[in-house]
Formats: sequence, structure tokens, C-alpha cells
Amino acid sequence: MRLIIQSNYEKASCWAARYIADKINNHKTDKPFVLGLPTGSSPLGIYREFVKMHKEGNLSFKNVRTFNMDEYIGLAASHPQSYRYFMMENLFNHIDIEHKHVHLLDGMTEDPEKECRLYEEKIKAEGGIDLFLGGMGSDGHIAFNEPGSSLVSRTRVKTLTAESVASNARFFDNDLEKVPKTALTVGVGTIMDANEVVIIVSGRNKAHALKAVVEEGINQMRTLSYMQMHPKAMIVCDDEATEELKVGTVKYFKDSERKNIELYSDSF
Ligand code: GLP
Repeated sequence: MRLIIQSNYEKASCWAARYIADKINNHKTDKPFVLGLPTGSSPLGIYREFVKMHKEGNLSFKNVRTFNMDEYIGLAASHPQSYRYFMMENLFNHIDIEHKHVHLLDGMTEDPEKECRLYEEKIKAEGGIDLFLGGMGSDGHIAFNEPGSSLVSRTRVKTLTAESVASNARFFDNDLEKVPKTALTVGVGTIMDANEVVIIVSGRNKAHALKAVVEEGINQMRTLSYMQMHPKAMIVCDDEATEELKVGTVKYFKDSERKNIELYSDSF
């Protein structure tokens, strides 16, 4: 698993956005480019950069299909804290993607198991995910694959941990009661099937989990750590997120990725 370290969140976001834009722009096959997407505060900088590149005429989503990672159970698409609403507001309403090409799990479904099964089938029907972009929960989880999730899990219902509920309360007037307690989420196995995985991590509050995910072994209590087994996985982070890593680890990745870290720096 690669680690690209940038000096701050802005640069990490720009780097990741340019990297993904290159993949979309250079995608030559007849098959559309299938992009997996997260919500949360971590990808916001990337989404801003996508919108900017699109407005400047440097990035089109006409040949892109998207699949979001997760959705709260019980929130309608019109709820401002639903992940569908978040994606429309922060990305889809500002780019040229056809809305029929946007896929999100339906948190209001009456049959969650069927919804999850069909989601996996839709991904398969599009030929699989080319690149899954993700964030990391402060305990090292990916999507809503909370600690203890099966590392070969598929799309399903998950109960959120107290930690996830608490950290998401900021979006619900800091009222724990208002935060949904269950969600639909792609599994670790679903993400592992993507051709490539890119994770954006920022800030000191993620440093402890990042250390575990990068320097320690694969562990079901930090589901992102399973990406160590992915043939093409990369974490893009800022300096603050590396504060718990060993000095030698940071030096190793900064040296070995020197040329790559400098890629795109003209556009920051
Ligand atoms: C939730 C989401 C994850 C996200 C995580 C971190 O758990 N399901 O997809 O990565 O929050 O969110 P943030 O980026 O706001 O720190």
C-alpha cells in the first residue's frame, strides 16, 4: 500500500483529485469509467477540485458512472444529512454527470437485503469499479465497515458504533439521538474488488488510526488495514495525519515517492 504525503489538506486533496482526473481522462476503453465515492469531510477538497477542473473544461464526467459507499438507513434523499443530498450538493449538481449514471444505496428501502444484493449486481453489470475513492473513520474503518466487520464482507446493513455516532453528531446539531444508528454500506470485499483504491486522510485526529493501518498488521478492528492486501491501494494524506507514524516510515515514503509527490504541484 502506497502512502503519498503532502504538506497540508489542500495539497493532498488537489493531488488526489488530479490523480483521479488523469485516470478518467486517460480511460480509453469503450466501457465507462466506474468510480466509487465516499462522503464525509475528507473528500470535500477533492470534490471542490473536481468541480473546478470541470468548470475550467479540463474534466468531464460524461463517461463516468458512480457508486457511493454507504447511506444512512431512515433518511430520505431530501434529508440534508442523507449521503445522496450531500453528494448532490457537493458534487453531482456541479458537474456534467448524467443523474441516471449516479448510484447510491436507498436508505428508505423496505427491503434492505434486496437493495444490497441489487447494488452488488449493478456494480457487476457496469463491469466492476475502476477506482474506489474512500476516507477513513477515526478508528481506521472504511465506508461503514466498523471494527469487527468481516474483511470479505459485501454490501449489507451495519449498526454504527458509538464512536461513529458520536463523530457524526456534528452534522445532526450535536444531538446523538438524531444520528441514524444503522446504515447500508458496501463491504470490505466490495472495495477490494475495485481495480484501484485511493484513500484520503487528513488531520491529527486520524493520526493514531493511520499509524495502525500503515505500520501494523491487518486487523478486523481497523478495516482499512485490509487494503494492505490490495494490489493497487494508496493513501494520500497530509503531514498532520502522519504525526503518529515512525520518523523512519515518513522518511521512507517521502523518499520513495519523491517524484510522485511532486506530480501536479504546478496546479496547487
Ligand atoms: C463515516 C463514513 C466514512 C468516512 C468516515 C470519516 O464513517 N461512512 O465513509 O470515511 O465517516 O469521515 P470524515 O471524512 O468526515 O472524517
